[in-house]
Amino acid sequence: TVVDIDAAAYEAGEHESFMRKEILEQPTTAQAVLRGRLDERFGTAHLGGLDMDARDLRAVRRVKILGCGSAYYVGQMGAALIEELARIPADAEAASEFRYRDPVIEPDTLYVAVSQSGETIDTLLAVQEVRRKGGRCVGLVNVVGSAIARECDGGIYLHAGPEVAVASTKALTNMFLGFALLALQLGRVRDLSIADGKRLVAGLERLPAQIEEVLAGEADLVEVAKELAQARSLFFIGRVRGFPVAREGAQKFKEISYRHAEAYQTSELKHGPLALIDPEVPTVAVVPLDELTDRNVGALHEIDARQGPLVVITHDEVDLGEIGARRVVVPRNEPELDPILLTIPLQLLAYHAAQHLGHDIDKPRNLAKSVTVE
Ligand code: AGP
Repeated sequence: TVVDIDAAAYEAGEHESFMRKEILEQPTTAQAVLRGRLDERFGTAHLGGLDMDARDLRAVRRVKILGCGSAYYVGQMGAALIEELARIPADAEAASEFRYRDPVIEPDTLYVAVSQSGETIDTLLAVQEVRRKGGRCVGLVNVVGSAIARECDGGIYLHAGPEVAVASTKALTNMFLGFALLALQLGRVRDLSIADGKRLVAGLERLPAQIEEVLAGEADLVEVAKELAQARSLFFIGRVRGFPVAREGAQKFKEISYRHAEAYQTSELKHGPLALIDPEVPTVAVVPLDELTDRNVGALHEIDARQGPLVVITHDEVDLGEIGARRVVVPRNEPELDPILLTIPLQLLAYHAAQHLGHDIDKPRNLAKSVTVE
């Protein structure tokens, strides 16, 4: 089930950049991380590489996810999946901070290191901190045999193939899917029902085609991206499941467009940053159809009343009312899995904004693909 891609044969080919090639590969690479790991009959996942049996999995009382940058933001999406499906308290922390606060390592906590390269020094040192203190750390890593993969007790390879562009896209999608598989397996050895398990397995199986559907809408995003590229400063907002999506969207935008893009919880706007909203400061809002839709839409009205330009990543069923917003509609999956579909248009917006600005998309200034020194 391992997809081996020969790195030497991997070229941008007809694509104008590796980032665009990697964005467009996602329907295929998403299938690769799921392949052989879904169990339709029992509504669960099989993750042999974790090296944990049902008893080990049931003994987990807490999950702590460690990663840097976008891997940390996807870690936040993963923590939400684990809490929702397995009802285990879970959170994500920036691996770059972790070791400096002399963290308490508990034997019944499962530590999860998440990294595309497997070489990020801060994440590697966080793993070593966990293991030195006797904790169990598993990896969600893309590069096979990398330092983090070797340092961990077990793990889930992401099978996204080589990722060349500094701005990570397909590896992040597979991190999310890796977390979904982990959450499903942790859930099914606990109280997640077989019906819910089957619902999520079916949802995961639908995802690659839905990613394709979002990518098919690329042309509609080009003009929106060009408008956003004009702004010196932007907000990306979301709530609960939508907030890590906003964080990741802002990260991608700032990395390659060099614009100040700040992610905020929509609920926190009125506690300060609303003062910055004016016609020069656009907001990209993540508004899925969920229990928070009405509250989210209410916040959009506050922004609209201050003439803040709005781009809303949303579902077809969401009624935004009478506001002047650009709508970007993505298909719905199961609510727990929606974050990844909401993330894909944000990759395209960042990409086309940077392209419009004439930036070096694959090698943005001041950044390296993996940060291997402190
Ligand atoms: C993502 O677009 C960034 N380039 C960056 O935040 C990256 O995710 C981070 O440096 C972690 O890298 P890793 O996944 O290789 O550990």
